Amino acid sequence: VRHKNRMSILQGQDDIFLDLKQKFWNTYKSGLMYWPFVQLTNFSLIPVHWRTAYTGLCGFLWATFLCFSQQTGDGTLKSAFILLRTKAAGAVERPPEK
Ligand SMILES: *[C@@H]1O[C@H](CO)[C@@H](O)[C@H](O)[C@H]1NC(C)=O
Repeated sequence: VRHKNRMSILQGQDDIFLDLKQKFWNTYKSGLMYWPFVQLTNFSLIPVHWRTAYTGLCGFLWATFLCFSQQTGDGTLKSAFILLRTKAAGAVERPPEK
């Protein structure tokens, strides 16, 4: 099965720059919103001893977001929030099993 969003080169996709063209600027803009926010909170809210751990956690979340963008998202933070919201709503609405 050929998924159009899997890693382009390994998949032998015809246009290996398609993902880049479609998602780069969205992802770049997301980064410009995300990292200044992380830095602001890092230096204003987080105690010195926790800053390294906090930055590591935020880096992990960012990497997770990049993986999501590659698979299903379009590089915007909005697409990730929409997925989170539908997942959360689905968990609530799912009828109890038994
Ligand atoms: C958070 O603060 C620590 C120490 O003050 C610094 O080393 C780290 O680079 C900062 N991280 C970010 C993302 O601002």
